[in-house]
Amino acid sequence: MLRYLIAGGAIAAAAAAVAWWVTGQKPPSVTSFRQPAAVDLARGEALYGEYCSSCHGADLQGQPDWRTAGADGRLPAPPHDETGHTWHHPDRVLFDYTALGGKEALAKDGIEFDSGMPGFGEALDDQDIWNIIAFIKSTWPERQRNVQAERTAADLAGS
Ligand code: HEC
Repeated sequence: MLRYLIAGGAIAAAAAAVAWWVTGQKPPSVTSFRQPAAVDLARGEALYGEYCSSCHGADLQGQPDWRTAGADGRLPAPPHDETGHTWHHPDRVLFDYTALGGKEALAKDGIEFDSGMPGFGEALDDQDIWNIIAFIKSTWPERQRNVQAERTAADLAGS
């Protein structure tokens, strides 16, 4: 029985690898950290509504009591507006978090963390992830936008 289970798992993994190869879909670990010069804010807003607002809120307000972990130990979805801390993070972190999900993004930095943030690297291509991030940024007041831009510049210079 066990042998069949293992064989089944190997076949499923091989099928997934072939699907990637055939469709040309990127594996989720491939990331690019620079926001493209051209972004589509209207598309980013629409995709935000489709993929993100169920947790982060239609008005980017996040979930209630977002600083307090729930019974499962996971934190609720934080706001993406200026009352949250999304603007504290450089582009690389925002992109990674969205593409890979919280658990995998933090694992890259050697941090083990159970996160309720799913990865969207297979559902969305890089440009659309940037379109969403650019839309989120466009809602921030100037101060938050400037701080985030400085942190991104410092992060890119250091990497
Ligand atoms: C199923 C609920 C859910 C959905 C849908 C979701 N998120 Fe999240 N997100 C979370 C949670 C929960 C966190 C807090 C994560 C943690 O504790 O790691 C989070 C955190 C984040 C962070 C880190 C934020 C910060 O302020 O530090 C970013 C960036 C993010 N999400 C972007 C997005 C984007 C963009 C989308 C849509 C493409 C999205 N999320 C969809 C649940 C969700």
